[in-house]
Amino acid sequence: KLGDAMSEFSHTKLRKLFRNYFESKQHIWLPSASLLPENDSSVLFVTAGMHPLVPYLLGQSHPSGKRLASIQKCLRTDDLNEVGDATHHTFFEMMGNWSLNDYFKKEAICWSWEFLTDQNWLALDKNKFAVSVFAGDSDAPFDQESFDLWEHLGIARDRIAKLTKVDNWWGPAGRVGPCGPDTEIFYWRDSSIPPRYFDPHDSRWVEIWNNVFMQYDLRQDEKFYPLGRKNVDTGMGLARMLAILNGYDDDYRTDIFWPVIETVSSITGENYDDQKREFRIVADHVTAAAMAISDGVIPSNKGEGFVVRRLLRRALVTLYLINGRPPEGLLEKIYQIIAEIYQPIYSSIVNPEIRQAIINEEVRYLSLLISGVKKIDEKNLNGEYLFDLYQSHGLSPEIVLDVLRKRGTAIDKDVRIKILHDFQIKLQKHQELSRTASGGMFRGGLADQGEISTRYHTATHLLQAALRKILGNSVFQRGSNINSERMRFDFSYPHKVSEGQLRQIEDLVNQQINRDLPVTMNEMSVEEAKKSGALGIFDSKYGNRVKVYTIGDFSKEICGGPHVQHTSEIGYFKIIKEEASSAGVRRIKAMIS
Ligand code: SER
Repeated sequence: KLGDAMSEFSHTKLRKLFRNYFESKQHIWLPSASLLPENDSSVLFVTAGMHPLVPYLLGQSHPSGKRLASIQKCLRTDDLNEVGDATHHTFFEMMGNWSLNDYFKKEAICWSWEFLTDQNWLALDKNKFAVSVFAGDSDAPFDQESFDLWEHLGIARDRIAKLTKVDNWWGPAGRVGPCGPDTEIFYWRDSSIPPRYFDPHDSRWVEIWNNVFMQYDLRQDEKFYPLGRKNVDTGMGLARMLAILNGYDDDYRTDIFWPVIETVSSITGENYDDQKREFRIVADHVTAAAMAISDGVIPSNKGEGFVVRRLLRRALVTLYLINGRPPEGLLEKIYQIIAEIYQPIYSSIVNPEIRQAIINEEVRYLSLLISGVKKIDEKNLNGEYLFDLYQSHGLSPEIVLDVLRKRGTAIDKDVRIKILHDFQIKLQKHQELSRTASGGMFRGGLADQGEISTRYHTATHLLQAALRKILGNSVFQRGSNINSERMRFDFSYPHKVSEGQLRQIEDLVNQQINRDLPVTMNEMSVEEAKKSGALGIFDSKYGNRVKVYTIGDFSKEICGGPHVQHTSEIGYFKIIKEEASSAGVRRIKAMIS
């Protein structure tokens, strides 16, 4: 028997209420953006609802106005090792509302409170709330206003914690960018009566909603510059809220996971209650992989593709660990259920290509993985051994640790940290040798600001200039995305670019590379930049002073960098594909080698 689950408060109901509430406050509803960030090479995936809105939080005007709301798909891999408990996920959806220099603290806080507690909306128990506000430091003052607002709404002083930047400050995952103090809302997730005092370290108080007041811009020099704008960015995890509304202490009992858990149970013949950790890893990882593939990721050995591969491999091994039988054909069945759950929300989740990609991974790796699992011997455990298992059998460290845990082998925390660290060093050395840049990318962050992406950055400037020379000056950049494997460049152009034109463009770029043109940078005002003929799509993004990069006599563009110093550093440039991106916008994928 599986237990008590099936949500009475469904995910579709929660989605609808959230949307209706913010529409009633004049917000424009935005569909979720892709999991793959546009114009941002600092992280592989979108990690928060605000991520696609960064340019607008920094000052660009948004076509839909100043009040926006959405439920955004997110993928975070930094706490991969936590997945398996009741509340951690790699894939999750974030409900959020935004003010782009419109309303500020008062409206944001009062609306959060009304949505959570009003009988017409979520009707949660007002006595089970606690909040935290920013205590203040040398960068920004104590958030008295939020403190007063909460008190005014009826939260007792004992339930308002004042915390430091570590807890009550938020900025995007790529580190630099819009940020600010936040106020976090906690709910007592336990059947007991909540204590009078709020102790943020008591895990029964769970954070349910974060309101960030994005007034600052954290720049490369690690200083906080006032944005001169009053932005609000809020985020509330959908699965967690759904669990609370249904009185569950386990996110996996909600209706976005439970059918998957039931499927794993019926196809393995095992009980969820006996192997919660394993069931949860499978449900989470297959969901995350399917979502990423539905946004265009292909499993591979680098970048986003590698994240997907790593998630699917771990799901395969975990299924194997559940009952010791090779899980042939199971991933695909699990994907079918996930597709059914999400199809009404994200129609792209139903796609034979996703099914095929998942099958391919199983066919390629299942027997290799299982033979590796059988070889794991805890007596040999050290960084080098982990690296060998990874190289020879595709077993990444978290899988090896899962296997040992399942066998009941206790690994001391310090030992674990040390061997994982040694593994990383071995991996990085190996990657430096093979000149790939996927090292560290799994963790997100700024790991991709390496030499390869710098070369790609400069190549996008050459490409834009070449496109304009061959196709005409109506071509403008509409977006770009770079990782260590390829670049994607979107530009305005009304029809397909012919093969012949593509070859001319490619040749023109390679000629500039062979000319070894110098790349120089000058800082100037936006006005001066425009006068100098520099191209730029994000004029307002960088404030008054901008950097203009000039490549010989060939290209001049406003850009934040980084770039190579001479074009010959780029290497050989090759266009892989040209396709439609959206109406009037074409997309080129290209590689350098
Ligand atoms: N960006 C904030 C967060 O992720 C609020 O949306 O918590």
